[in-house]
Order: sequence, then structure tokens, then C-alpha cells
Amino acid sequence: MKSSPRSPTGRLLYAQSGGVTSVINASAAGVIETARAHGVKVFAAHNGILGALREELIDTSKESKASITALRHTPGGAFGSCRYKLKSLETHRAEYERLIDVLRAHDIRWFLYNGGNDSADTALKISQLGKAMGYDIRCIGVPKTVDNDLAVTDCCPGFGSVAKYTAVSTLEASLDVASMADTSTKVFILEVMGRHAGWIAAAAGLAGEGADAPPHVILFPENVFDETAFLAKVKATVERVGWCTVVASEGIRNAAGQFLAEAGTRDAFGHAQLGGVAPVLASLVKEKLGYKYHWALPDYLQRSARHLASKTDAEQAYAVGKAAVEYALAGQNAVMPVIVRTSDAPYRWKIEPAPLSKVANHEKKMPKGFITRDGFGITAAARRYLSPLIQGEMPPPYGKDGLPRYATLRNQLIEKKLPAFAI
Ligand code: F6P
Repeated sequence: MKSSPRSPTGRLLYAQSGGVTSVINASAAGVIETARAHGVKVFAAHNGILGALREELIDTSKESKASITALRHTPGGAFGSCRYKLKSLETHRAEYERLIDVLRAHDIRWFLYNGGNDSADTALKISQLGKAMGYDIRCIGVPKTVDNDLAVTDCCPGFGSVAKYTAVSTLEASLDVASMADTSTKVFILEVMGRHAGWIAAAAGLAGEGADAPPHVILFPENVFDETAFLAKVKATVERVGWCTVVASEGIRNAAGQFLAEAGTRDAFGHAQLGGVAPVLASLVKEKLGYKYHWALPDYLQRSARHLASKTDAEQAYAVGKAAVEYALAGQNAVMPVIVRTSDAPYRWKIEPAPLSKVANHEKKMPKGFITRDGFGITAAARRYLSPLIQGEMPPPYGKDGLPRYATLRNQLIEKKLPAFAI
């Protein structure tokens, strides 16, 4: 990896990409505060890469120090994010060239792209095209995804907080159902995000340990959904414990490979829109076993629940933003700061650069050794991996009205210099 010191002339462009998290703004704070400390002006793309294509760039120097600090505890994507996949360089070169034109017009020398594996791929392509077009641009990926499915990094900023929310919610809802089971609800089903990888569902397993502790059944997208085995496990649990908590990933599929929860729509990346596996499972339970049920679909609540964020996660999110700026200013290109675990107990981690080419377009699933043999629970190895990631709390400050004091930004756009570009 080439690393040559650069003087901090030029601007830095930061963009958020894909589904947001409760701590992606902590990465933004890490980027902006670190760049400010080096005297570098940061523009933020409005609504992610679309803002870069449309030349809608926010001047973050107009934001107060307090507002930027408040990003550390504010969920959502403060500058807007988007799902927009740049097509292949061969067929849609004009889009990439437009990006280089926008970067050049505003003397942007560093581009930091905060997203998942698709975004790592885009950042890599821009760095390659910059070189081919003779424009000196350093591109750094900043990791983010609640799905925890990025390659190379030990975990992904955003995941620890959704994991904590899921484990805590599983525990709390289980206490509720346990109190009612004698005369009312016997089965509670929680549906969590995670399209292809079961990391979030696995985190629910931290709520309890042992055969009778909730969650009694976890359904992972890594396993084919087996209706008979599922119903047998629910029935046996209700007969033994009196009630049963099920946690299902939105991404579970049947033997034919179809999502149980597919809504029939697709996003710009071609991903199926999911959501609704819990009611499907609930109907099965009612129809085949006759048990009264409740189900919940926390959906966006789980990835925006900053009030219940993991301190470890919030700190890692800030740290990758900070490191990304340091790498960029040191002249590194086409890398991503990744989290390296150096010890499980006590949990220790550090940040290192990894080539974007190793992160782009790979998807990290749960290892076989993290799922119990019957397919419905997590192993001790999974606990060792997951447990440190939900450690610590860092609640936002609350106001007199009882609500969190979240950042509100001015998001002032700079003047455009180029003609409009049709997307
Ligand atoms: O970014 C990941 C994710 O949170 C998935 O787990 C979920 O399926 C998806 O985003 C939802 O995406 P959208 O908000 O675009 O519908």
C-alpha cells in the first residue's frame, strides 16, 4: 500500500450511502472533526452519491462545533443517504466522468464514502477512473452496515447497536410473554433485519443462555427454513417452558430459495424488499399448533434506536471516520479503515487500513461454527464474538421535554459551477 505525505490543500467530500444506522453520524463527526483539526474543509454530498452527481454539496464549515459534536449521538443520516448503484464503468462511463468533473470543479482531493460493500466497489472505481483521467483523487471507504456482512473487518459500525437493541428487546418482550402465557399469548415472534446474513438474529441469542431461556428459536437466513422442524421446536418449547420466543431474520428462505417475506418490490441495487416474515410464521403457529401469538416487526426502529446504542459501536463508528481522514491526508488510496479484534476478553480492538478491492462486493455470512447443530441457536463461539459488541451505553442527552437533543444541521448547499446532469 503506497503511502506518501500530502499537504492538506483541496477539499474533502464525504457521502453517506445505503441504509443508515444509529451511529453513521458518529462516523460523520469523526470525519469532520478530524478534517477540521487538519484545516481541511469538508463538503458533504446531499443524499449520498446522488448529491455528488447533481452537484448538491453541503458546506459543513457552516455548521457549529456543537452541531458536529451532536452528530455523535444523532441517528439517521444527517446529510441524506440513498440507494443508487452506479452501473458498470464500461456501459455508464459518463456517470463516473461526471463525478470526476464535479470533484475537479470544486477542487475535491479526497472522497470518503460511508457505506457497505457496494459503496466500497464504487469508491474503488472512482479512484481507478481518477487515475485514468489524470485527476488526483484519493478514495477511502468508511465501513457501515447494520447487517454486519462486510468482509475483512471484524465487525461493522452500526451492527453493535442494532445487536444491543435486538438482544434487549428479546429479553424484555420475553418477560412480558412469560407473565401472560398461562391464560393468553404463548408464542412471541420478533422479525429482525438481515437480508442474507443472520448476524442480527444471532445477536438476539445474547438475551439468554440455556435451553429454557429466550430466544428458544432463532431462524437464520443461512439455513433453509424447515417448517416441520420449526413447528416441532415451538411445540416442544411451549410444552416444556410454557411459552416460546422466536426470532426470525427477514431473509429466511424456503427450500425453493424463495424469501418467506418477499414483498414483490426491488430497490435500485436489485435487492428484494423484505419485511413480513413474522406474520407468516405466526399464521403457521396458529394454524398448525393453535397457540395464541403476538409478533413484532421493529423495522426502522431497530436501526435508528440511538437511545439504546452500544457504546463500543458508537466509539468504533467515530474511530473509522477519524482514521479515514488520517489515511486520506497521509496519501493512502482505495483503502478502508477496518476493525481488527486483538482480544476477546478483555475485548480489545484497533483500526487498520484494508484494500477496498478485498471488501468490495463480498458478503460475510455467519460461520457454521456460530450456529448450533439443530440450527435454532447460537454457540459459545458466537457469544464470544457478539457479546463485546453490545457492551456499554452512551445515551443521548435529553431535554426538559423528555426527548433526546438530536443535532439539527443547516445543510447549506454551495453554489453550483457546472451545468445540470441528467441521471
Ligand atoms: O442497510 C441494510 C438494511 O438495513 C437491511 O437489513 C434491510 O433489509 C434494508 O436495509 C432495508 O432497506 P431500505 O431502507 O432501503 O428499505
